[in-house]
Amino acid sequence: MAAGNKPIVVVGSINIDLVSTTARLPKEGETIEGTGFQIHPGGKGANQAVAAARLGYPVAMIGRLGDDTFGNDLRANLEREGVDASAVATTPGSSGVANILVAANGENCIVITAGANALVTTADIDANIDLIRSAGIVLTQLEIPIATVEHLAEVCKREGVPLVLDPAPAATLSPALLSSVEWFTPNETEAAFFVEHNGTTEPNETAQTLLNKNIRNVVLKMGPRGVFLASTDGLRDQVPSFPVQAVDTTAAGDAFNGAFATAMMLGKSARDSALFAAAAAALSVTRAGAQPSMPSRSEVEELLARSTSSN
Ligand code: RIB
Repeated sequence: MAAGNKPIVVVGSINIDLVSTTARLPKEGETIEGTGFQIHPGGKGANQAVAAARLGYPVAMIGRLGDDTFGNDLRANLEREGVDASAVATTPGSSGVANILVAANGENCIVITAGANALVTTADIDANIDLIRSAGIVLTQLEIPIATVEHLAEVCKREGVPLVLDPAPAATLSPALLSSVEWFTPNETEAAFFVEHNGTTEPNETAQTLLNKNIRNVVLKMGPRGVFLASTDGLRDQVPSFPVQAVDTTAAGDAFNGAFATAMMLGKSARDSALFAAAAAALSVTRAGAQPSMPSRSEVEELLARSTSSN
């Protein structure tokens, strides 16, 4: 899918992440003491855009921010990272907010309040049709209204632009949407939702159940267990993970998607793109925060080279 310098276009959420670190995640009804607090730019859409931009690929974002101070900071951050934010609108009200707890073992739990992300509508897609047409690949997620994602999928199908859907957070999706997606990239929790908890954890079976829903290509992100690739054209492949000391797993999936799209745009095969993306995701979990944790191209290439030479 090498497509010259066509940009990656991300249609998705932009959040401010309010992150408390804790020794462990609290149980329901429990109050525990935090060990630290940080504010980072986040949101699955913006994270994926920044991931691609840090890897040196041209990327533009379509989304919405509130007219609050978070909105100003988040826009400035996208611009500083080299993301073309000219199709990010500002809307009266609050920007998207994510309250995140990160435990000492790197695991997290997240509550999102959509704010302006809930106002990304089909009209935003139509208003930016030329940008979408110009894209080599479009990335989206489920932190904007599903009706908008459905319309985007129709538009991408009509215009012949491949769409990567990160089905996060998992939600019921129409057969029409699933069949319009080029790459479907759930993690294991999300995949379990879409295969209706059929009791299997075997990646081949999970992927096959997803392919049976008329999804063309599945990229199953399994964290330390690696990545399983499956396509209706018969591809079945598993890519190993890169062992790292996890500090914060927030946005590892976003690092993966931004890097996967970048690698595909650079003309790599699906397997090599998944390997490149797994390396980017591994590096991201070694650092705190969503966007601050995204690696550069040279860091990813060094990790890939180190792992090849140690095999
Ligand atoms: O995928 C991680 C992201 O999920 C965080 O940055 C947070 O904003 C939520 O959207």
